[in-house]
Amino acid sequence: MLTQIKDLATQLAPRLIEIRRHIHSHPELSGQEYQTSAFVAGVLSSCGIHAEEGVGKTGVIGELPGTGEDNRILAIRTDMDALPIEECTGLDFASRQSGIMHACGHDVHTTVGLGTAMILSEIAGELPGKVRFLFQPAEEIAQGASWMVKDRVMENISAILGVHVFPSIPGGSIGVRYGALTAAADDLEIMIIGESGHGARPHEAIDAIWIASQVVTTLQQAISRTQNPLRPVVLTIGKINGGRAPNVIADKVQLSGTVRSLHPETRAQLPNWIEQIVNSVCHSYGAKCQVSYKQGVPSVQNDYNLTQLLQSAAEEAWGSDRVQVLPEPSLGAEDFSVYLQHAPGSMFRLGVGYKEKILNYPLHHPLFDVDESAIITGVVTMAYTAYKYWHQ
Ligand code: NI
Repeated sequence: MLTQIKDLATQLAPRLIEIRRHIHSHPELSGQEYQTSAFVAGVLSSCGIHAEEGVGKTGVIGELPGTGEDNRILAIRTDMDALPIEECTGLDFASRQSGIMHACGHDVHTTVGLGTAMILSEIAGELPGKVRFLFQPAEEIAQGASWMVKDRVMENISAILGVHVFPSIPGGSIGVRYGALTAAADDLEIMIIGESGHGARPHEAIDAIWIASQVVTTLQQAISRTQNPLRPVVLTIGKINGGRAPNVIADKVQLSGTVRSLHPETRAQLPNWIEQIVNSVCHSYGAKCQVSYKQGVPSVQNDYNLTQLLQSAAEEAWGSDRVQVLPEPSLGAEDFSVYLQHAPGSMFRLGVGYKEKILNYPLHHPLFDVDESAIITGVVTMAYTAYKYWHQ
């Protein structure tokens, strides 16, 4: 079966490159994937897969029925949105939308999803159960997976597979990871309320800017002294707003940030821990404060058995020297984790770096570019893993 899947992928390669370039040159922002989803639905229908648009707002699902001998349903998830970045690659098929770019490889993911659908539709007689393809919108704003789940795409799903491109490993290689792959990403808003006054008479005021500086410093120091160093927490205050004039003491400062963690137990204690620190700093200097901690997406925790399945499928297809077990997780976030609240799953990393280049630009960079040979690597890995899911 592996040979048949590889042959089908080779035949499809020119079409898949064409599809990827089309999507790349027509990027759409999160929640506005209208053309992309119509295009995806068109490709699915052309290979005989029933496609439904408008799922999870601008998402698409397709389903292959299987022979019905097994009632498990396997989901394959890819994402379709682009970023508000001006592309600078100068490629022939560069973005035609000014200020919007597929700089996170979701054009490649969508193509891998479509290629997998094309191949599995050819070998549908060998699939005892259903395969549901999820083409998700709005991953970049960490909303799309929740929109899809709200539209019940995870109903009766027994396992889910996902993929993300990775420029740090070469095209043709695959990275798998057991356990944590990405971090939980939560939002933090802090309002510090002091009292305004003349810049020359600090004793008659409560300086919210000085107190905000203490809050930022104390939070960073407290991480190193009160959080378990083997369970990472990253707290970044990325935005500060406050003050009106150089000679007026500010009465209000707003701090906004992101909080990343890998372990669910660590994450659970973060809101109280932060609130206590902010309260105690503010109160000791006479200021009031409001702390709002909003949970974003959880950490992606890859299932052991499904990761093993991915690894063995990839090793059979490409040899073990092209398959890496990634030693470290990322503290980036990925809303694939939202599906994992409903079924076990695993997301692999698809190498897209050019071997001959010294520098491969990172994700979200205006010069980000991929080695397109990776598309076939991704499609074969995904399709063969799906096949093996029923034939272990
Ligand atoms: Ni991405």
